[in-house]
Amino acid sequence: MEMKKSHPIVDFEVAVKVPVIVDGKPLMASRGKPIAAALIEAGIDVFRITEKKKSPRGLFCGIGQCNDCVMEVNGIPNVRTCVTPLEEGMDIRTQEGLGKVGDIR
Ligand code: FES
Repeated sequence: MEMKKSHPIVDFEVAVKVPVIVDGKPLMASRGKPIAAALIEAGIDVFRITEKKKSPRGLFCGIGQCNDCVMEVNGIPNVRTCVTPLEEGMDIRTQEGLGKVGDIR
């Protein structure tokens, strides 16, 4: 079945895969999707490790309210990946604890 590439009302783009780096490894991921969605699509669902109990965390609210999905993106800690679009060449890292700076955006 051929995938539809246009719609009379909704303007959408079929996801284009672009290169990013995730925890030091190259990955092709969907440009423009929220980082969290693109990583889950690629089979990655742990985005941060809690500071005290070292527990893995991933997508929870999906709307930028809970901070469970924060990662270090291009050297910036505490980026909410559920509301941040993926861009080509991003350096995305699993965040340990509060991240390098420790501020929540
Ligand atoms: S999943 Fe809750 S802020 Fe991203």
